Amino acid sequence: MIGRLNHVAIVVPDLAAATALYRNALGATVSDPVDVPAHGVTTVFVLLPNTKIELLHPLGENSPIAGFLAKNPAGGMHHICYEVTDIRAARDHLLAEGARVLGDGEPKIGAHGLPVLFLHPKDFCGTLVELEEVAAA
Ligand code: CO
Repeated sequence: MIGRLNHVAIVVPDLAAATALYRNALGATVSDPVDVPAHGVTTVFVLLPNTKIELLHPLGENSPIAGFLAKNPAGGMHHICYEVTDIRAARDHLLAEGARVLGDGEPKIGAHGLPVLFLHPKDFCGTLVELEEVAAA
């Protein structure tokens, strides 16, 4: 059911320092910071040949990742995102398998303008999983 790894998201306490680390120490291609107010984050995209890394930093007072950073002051891996071609069918399958979908279970428009859902980390080996609907290949 799941397709490609779309991205791995890492919450960082210092976006400029993390960007420099990926650009200089790891030699990766990195984007300029992009504010995504609807999701309460500023993102830097690290473009790899086969996937992306998204460096996330809280934006605004009610950022959904502020609590994560409070608990993990050095930063840490926040979620992984897998691509699916039919997000509602994927959700229905997962619910039938006993997995928990976060929120009201309806896909929301994510940071890339595509429908996304999040799955409960306790059901997926301690990892927050994002599903993103992409066009069928
Ligand atoms: Co994501």
